[in-house]
Amino acid sequence: MIIGINHIGVAVRNLDRVVSFYRDTMGFEFLGVEEVPSQRVRVAKFDVGGVHVEFLEATSEESPIYKFIEKKGEGIHHIAYNTDSLENTLEALKGRGVKLINERPVKGSSGMLIAFVHPKSSVVLTELVEE
Ligand code: CO
Repeated sequence: MIIGINHIGVAVRNLDRVVSFYRDTMGFEFLGVEEVPSQRVRVAKFDVGGVHVEFLEATSEESPIYKFIEKKGEGIHHIAYNTDSLENTLEALKGRGVKLINERPVKGSSGMLIAFVHPKSSVVLTELVEE
């Protein structure tokens, strides 16, 4: 079951420029930068009233973020939702014919389990999270 929004992921070309804008100009609470090798990205995280905004910079041309920006430019890449159980949610969605990118949970940032729903089903790329 989906129980809330975890974060919004935004694809950017230059993480340092974006960090200084959102931290210094917008005054968002900066939580730090983390590299996520499984997704080939560097992630800068901010907290805004309990919802996170994550800015994603590709670390290689093989990165999904690199390909996304080549195709669509910078902007909102995905919305991530909290689940009470990722396994059960994936099972239920699969049973309803939803197209999944990850049929099994994979490791995301901060040791969270995540899985992606294909935008063919969800319009916006959708990440499911179990904290
Ligand atoms: Co994400």
